[in-house]
Amino acid sequence: MTKEDFTLGMKTERMTDIALAFKQTGAILAAIEMELFTHIARGAGTIDEIAAAMGVDAEKADRLLTACKSMDLVREVDGRHENYSDVQRYLVKDSRTYFGDYLDYMAHRDYGAWENIAHNLTAVAGTNEDDDRTYVSLMQDPKKARDFTEAGYEASIGLGHKLAKEFDFSRFDRWLDLGGGSGCYAIAACERQQGFTVTVLDQPNVIAVAEEFIAKHGLGDRIDTTPGDFFGAPYPTGYDLATYITPLQGYMPDKVIAALAKAKDSLEPGGTILVVDYMLRDDKTGPLDPAFVNLFGIREGRYLGRVNTGAEWCEFMAEAGYVDAQAGWFTPHQLGLITARKPA
Ligand SMILES: C[S@@+](CC[C@H](N)C(=O)[O-])C[C@H]1O[C@@H](n2cnc3c(N)ncnc32)[C@H](O)[C@@H]1O
Repeated sequence: MTKEDFTLGMKTERMTDIALAFKQTGAILAAIEMELFTHIARGAGTIDEIAAAMGVDAEKADRLLTACKSMDLVREVDGRHENYSDVQRYLVKDSRTYFGDYLDYMAHRDYGAWENIAHNLTAVAGTNEDDDRTYVSLMQDPKKARDFTEAGYEASIGLGHKLAKEFDFSRFDRWLDLGGGSGCYAIAACERQQGFTVTVLDQPNVIAVAEEFIAKHGLGDRIDTTPGDFFGAPYPTGYDLATYITPLQGYMPDKVIAALAKAKDSLEPGGTILVVDYMLRDDKTGPLDPAFVNLFGIREGRYLGRVNTGAEWCEFMAEAGYVDAQAGWFTPHQLGLITARKPA
């Protein structure tokens, strides 16, 4: 359906907000880095108290607070500052659901590269058949693999618990989590549900970190690990559930279909495949974050991956030999959830 032109009569504010949105990024990252929201949560309320906690002049604290109030991150009630509830939940260091380090990691990793989008689209790509294997090259470096996987744990453990509340893993006996990263989805599911074991498959430098998380949660008896590559040696067999939770946006459709088809070999007849990944609405009007991930999947003219619509995911499942494919939203602003079955 075509959207109404809701901009009739508007001046330049909307374009300014969009084009200069990097200022919001800079201001929120400064607040995260200086632990502004954490200090407020711990009881600093006046400008002077907040300034003292951050170790800066009151005038400097006031300017950062003004920016944060303008972005509706913080509000002032009777002369004392309070975090809005989402900030309190996600940007306060003491919170179990804190993900400030993840935002900091992602923003610093990608910030500079967003200056070059037009160049990325117009550059003429050289030939390189490994174009879409950025995950594989990134994880060759143990330090980069650790940083990525630890940030990934923080970003996704909450989602792992959400999935475990909404998806019945206890219907299955053996689950193969492909590209399982830190193991956060397996950990959350095992903490909430009984009756199944999990194998986390990922690249060797990632598996080393996953093993630490699994041991820290005392789940070594239910979750094992195996180093592997989606496109390399055969996967282990004998599973009734296989998942790909967010690695596949790093690949183009031909590789995605190959990875889905390969997972079929590890599944028993009638077994289920579950994909959670960035997803676009079928009419490609958003959501915003998947649209940006899709745009950023082109560098120097090369395709490094793709974000697909729900309808496309169902087609990929059929092409890979699955039946009963269904796509819906896991988080409506970002992630789709697609299921299908290997024929019995
Ligand atoms: C975005 S992370 C997701 C990790 C985890 N599923 C989560 O949601 O927290 C993608 C993971 O897929 C892994 N991966 C990507 N391509 C892979 C491949 N060809 N073989 C094995 N693992 C791969 C990466 O190493 C990375 O750990």
